[in-house]
Amino acid sequence: MNTEIFKQMSNADINTIIDGSQPFVKLMTYYGCALREVETKLQVLNDEFKLTHDRNPIESIKSRIKTPQSIVDKLERRGIEANVSNPEEYIRTIERELFDIAGIRVICAFPDDIYKLAEQLISQDDITLIRTKDYILSPKPNGYRSLHLIISVPVFFSQQKRDMKVEVQIRTIAMDFWASLEHQIKYKREIPDQENIVAKLKACADDIARIDGEMMEIHRQLEASENRERQEDNLLSMLRKLDTPIS
Ligand code: GTP
Ligand code: MG
Repeated sequence: MNTEIFKQMSNADINTIIDGSQPFVKLMTYYGCALREVETKLQVLNDEFKLTHDRNPIESIKSRIKTPQSIVDKLERRGIEANVSNPEEYIRTIERELFDIAGIRVICAFPDDIYKLAEQLISQDDITLIRTKDYILSPKPNGYRSLHLIISVPVFFSQQKRDMKVEVQIRTIAMDFWASLEHQIKYKREIPDQENIVAKLKACADDIARIDGEMMEIHRQLEASENRERQEDNLLSMLRKLDTPIS
């Protein structure tokens, strides 16, 4: 269990709920296990793709469990106060209300890979798709692009099977680069020349989408020519075999 997350607690309420709260520690352990299940599924798909296409569609995978502080903050924003007197009830609320306690970010090379991977993941018969937000097809007004899936995955423990929700964000390297820079704005209290920065970021997001599309097109052309060369080589070697001297 990653105890790091508990070190970030600051306010007394969180301490009361979480410190020594066995149900909370248990819940976070379950989410950690769910993350590992989904990560393994993605790595399996990546390995299989490498066998068939001779390249990896996944550049990297990052996982995280939401910190206790941001769980409490998010619920407070929804008008749900931390229930100090009844941690079990509060924990049930957390599970019911929040779908992004366990989060995985998958970075792909090309936009096509995003949809292929998502399709292959959600078509597995132990995965239930709960919600999709396609910010690639419909980017956010600020330019944000990414495919978000909320899925449920069963995790098998010694005495029980538990369906756990995991948020999967899938995007290209370029979309991720953009999102990291844009994310910094959220932590700034004062942004100099905000309007200009927002407009510049939006323009960058649109440029990135265009370049992602062009890179994918170049990649398709290269793959098609490699396939043609392979077919020609195969044909030539078949013809050579036919060309045996008659004795
Ligand atoms: P949250 O309350 O933020 O979790 O939003 P939501 O439940 O409506 O879900 P949504 O799928 O819209 O966003 C989930 C996550 O995607 C966020 O927590 C961020 O990590 C990321 N995200 C969404 N919008 C943006 C954005 O405009 N910029 C950046 N950098 N990240 C975003
Ligand atoms: Mg979130």
